[in-house]
Amino acid sequence: GRRGDSGLNSLASIRANFAIKALDGPAGDAVAVSVEREDVVEASEAFRERALVSSRAQYEEMYKRSVEDPDGFWGDIASTFFWKKKFPVKDGKLHSENIDVRKGRVAVEWFKGGETNICYNALDRHVEAGLGDKVAFYWEGNDVGVDAKLTYKEVLERVCQLANYLRSQGVKKGDAVAIYMPMLAELPIAMLACARIGAVHSVVFAGFSAESLYQRILDCKPNIILTSSAVKRGAKIINLKDIVDDALVRASEGGHTVGTCLTFDNNLAIKREDTAWQEGRDIWWQDVVPSQEKKCEVEWVDAEDTLFLLYTSGSTGKPKGVLHTTGGYMVYAATTFKHAFNYHDDDVYWCTADCGWITGHSYLTYGPLLNGASMVVFEGVPNYPDAGRCWEIVDKYNVTIFYTAPTAIRSLMRSGDEPVKRHSRKSLRVLGSVGEPINPSAWKWYHEVVGDKRCPISDTWWQTETGGFMITPLPGAWGLKPGSATLPFFGVQPAVVDENAQEQHGECSGYLCVKAAWPGMMRTLQGDHDRYETTYFAPFKGFYFSGDGCRRDKDGYYWLTGRVDDVINVSGHRIGTAEVESALVSHPMCAEAAVVGFDHEVKGQGIYAFVTLLEDVEYSEELRKALINAVRSQIGAFAAPDVIHWAPGLPKTRSGKIMRRILRKIASNELDQVGDISTLADTSVVEQLINLRGK
Ligand code: PRX
Repeated sequence: GRRGDSGLNSLASIRANFAIKALDGPAGDAVAVSVEREDVVEASEAFRERALVSSRAQYEEMYKRSVEDPDGFWGDIASTFFWKKKFPVKDGKLHSENIDVRKGRVAVEWFKGGETNICYNALDRHVEAGLGDKVAFYWEGNDVGVDAKLTYKEVLERVCQLANYLRSQGVKKGDAVAIYMPMLAELPIAMLACARIGAVHSVVFAGFSAESLYQRILDCKPNIILTSSAVKRGAKIINLKDIVDDALVRASEGGHTVGTCLTFDNNLAIKREDTAWQEGRDIWWQDVVPSQEKKCEVEWVDAEDTLFLLYTSGSTGKPKGVLHTTGGYMVYAATTFKHAFNYHDDDVYWCTADCGWITGHSYLTYGPLLNGASMVVFEGVPNYPDAGRCWEIVDKYNVTIFYTAPTAIRSLMRSGDEPVKRHSRKSLRVLGSVGEPINPSAWKWYHEVVGDKRCPISDTWWQTETGGFMITPLPGAWGLKPGSATLPFFGVQPAVVDENAQEQHGECSGYLCVKAAWPGMMRTLQGDHDRYETTYFAPFKGFYFSGDGCRRDKDGYYWLTGRVDDVINVSGHRIGTAEVESALVSHPMCAEAAVVGFDHEVKGQGIYAFVTLLEDVEYSEELRKALINAVRSQIGAFAAPDVIHWAPGLPKTRSGKIMRRILRKIASNELDQVGDISTLADTSVVEQLINLRGK
């Protein structure tokens, strides 16, 4: 299993002792420091010859400038992009920041007053430079043999057509556009079309339920939603349009009517004539978009105008609409992409993420396109039709940079080496990992079996909120340690702080914070700047707080140990325990629920739910299924609990606070480590729960 094979040992203890809500209280136990691992994996001489940064010394020099003179450092890079109006220098500065709540409102701006357009920089700029015939997207369908190729010129034309259509519907600068689509090439195209006309895209992962989609619609109030008739994931077909219809009905009832639903017919399952249709609102994409002009005027926007909203889960309450702006995000996404993957013009890049998550925004759409990269856009899942699919695709397109999540690596690893070795993979140069800590055994398998020991691994630590990579290797610049994200990216100043917000120095562990602004950071939460400040800047005054715990070793390498708040990371998807709890409680038979994470061999963490039923209601298999379904329909299938543990009562303090520390121990079957229960209102609850384990 995963437990014990890594620097993740301390994860459970951080979780147990440092629930972020307990921060005002007395300090918990010190974070356990796991045994130092000395295996350092160096890049080959041949690799280093092509490295953009080829030594730690060179990095240190660049890094030093990036933190001592951030305006000069980022200004030089920003100047390589196209600006309709160059960003002005004010008092020698290109940015302003206050991230200290004690000094007033938190506010960050980069390149303000400059005017640009990210779509223009991602597409037109390359076409004008003669790269129009270079492939932008190699689209690979869910089913083997279904594929398409789009050059930069073709992508630009399609973006323009959609942008023209959106304009014709009255969409203008600053308006929100909701996108709920599978991984068709039309999904990144839709994002770029919004950006082109200055509209704000809000992509909702097409695995979210109607209820979740509705909540996001109600929060950002789009007048148009883009979707497709269905999605096929592996062998399953899901009718997306039905889900959208349901969400739009709820939205109307909730007070916001979406005027237009543009539906891409991807020819699955249901025929057009059988699709539920609301005249006046519903329009087939194919009926109105391809007939549009292939040219579309760019809307020039301020660097600080909003580019997109992306909702993400926190430890409490509703999902938060993370807001990113244009200029800083553009410069940051492009630069991090280039360096963390040691990108060269002849690379073929493949990121397996979905555009519904931040990885699909920064490293499937904007980062690679801003660099003029050719990339694979894959509709399917890594193990369909079999565990060799990824490597078949790698060979088919001669992929050189492959970027995926530890959960996918672990699941493929379970199918053994044969499906990998069956394919050559000789094109691969760099491998990437994102979404959760990668355990050293999966790291080694990825390195040795997938990469034939030839490819450096970029374990990239970052978040929806950070916009781009924060801690990541620069392949070839320094040795890698399996399980460590290594060193901070240019301009990123991490701080490991203790529970009193004191920065730790040298070898240490604690809460991972950042002490200065960087260009790609989120600017606010949609409609709730107070929540932005309380969530990220108030817990440790003077710092941005990530929500993660970490350890820094004697070489300055960072080892991420997982979330320290009530957020769990299931297959790299962030899920708030509070959201799952409220979904469970929405079931009429459920009186109370408490959700915790537990170590899961493939998913990283699984969802473990303790459920108290109403009095006189009997436990049953049927009820268990109904509860799981409640979560599916409130959030989405990916948030379905792995375990429902019947709980006659929950362990609560006399003031009524649920002691999750105890629940985590029961969930992970560490029954001898339940610890001190004397502060519970009723100590017999623990014994009862232990007896019901596995029932
Ligand atoms: O806990 C960290 C984990 O994922 C969280 C961010 O989730 P999200 O905003 O959905 O973005 C995921 C893709 C960037 C972080 O707080 N995380 C992400 N990457 C890593 C990671 N944990 C350890 N190592 C990583 N490389």
